[in-house]
Amino acid sequence: MEQNKNDILSADILKDRIKSNIEVIYNQTLDSTNNLAKKLIQQGKSNAFLVTCDEQTNGRGRQGKSFYSPKNTGIYMSYVFHPKKDFSDVVSLTCAAGVAVCRAIEEISDLRPEIKWVNDIYLNGKKICGILCEAVSDIENNTINSVIIGIGVNISTIEFPDYVENAACLGRDIKRADLIAEITAQLEEIISLNFGDYIDYYRSHSMIIGKDITFIQNGISTNAKALEIDNNGGLKVELDDGEIITLRSGEISIRV
Ligand code: BTN
Repeated sequence: MEQNKNDILSADILKDRIKSNIEVIYNQTLDSTNNLAKKLIQQGKSNAFLVTCDEQTNGRGRQGKSFYSPKNTGIYMSYVFHPKKDFSDVVSLTCAAGVAVCRAIEEISDLRPEIKWVNDIYLNGKKICGILCEAVSDIENNTINSVIIGIGVNISTIEFPDYVENAACLGRDIKRADLIAEITAQLEEIISLNFGDYIDYYRSHSMIIGKDITFIQNGISTNAKALEIDNNGGLKVELDDGEIITLRSGEISIRV
């Protein structure tokens, strides 16, 4: 798919599209939007803000992986807010971020993406979006001071380097500013809700229920069957010996 020549990002264009008055920080090139967000928090920034760019030279994924972020063919954004809640209250945030992106894509296109636990977004069996949530916490009061929700969506990226497995793009003529604005609106709505308010959406878009999966814990890979998403976003699985356990974090893959 060819890139739309009118698909331009700038702070002014983004401010025009985004309905709330969240602060927008835009750069053409960044190593990682999450890195800049973290730096600004460490420098004392205490308002909610959004960092975005045209390309990342060191886009980061979960578990130390890289996130391929070529120029202009996807969105790379970090949404930062300061929840001041207990640790337990923000566990479901990673699921919330997945719901926000999924809803945003549904809102501005005819596509129906699915969620692979915890919050990878897939389309037709291929990954089109990765989300990296990071927290800046205060150990003393057991509170999370700031949350960085880093989101990368492939809009028109066709070629991927060898280290990127099973990826694809949305393949629709979607303007990056429109997608960033819609995701921001969905995030702003969803973080004001309780997990119970959008768990049904999460469940109905989950692509793993009933599937044979593999999960890795403490470096050990285990086979299981995915049973259900519990009320806190945990994944209930049945091990090969019949034992049922709930996964609270980590990476799973679907066995084919
Ligand atoms: C994953 O799939 O493992 C998560 C990928 C997260 C990528 C996004 S792109 C914007 C933000 N900045 C980063 O460096 N990573 C996240």
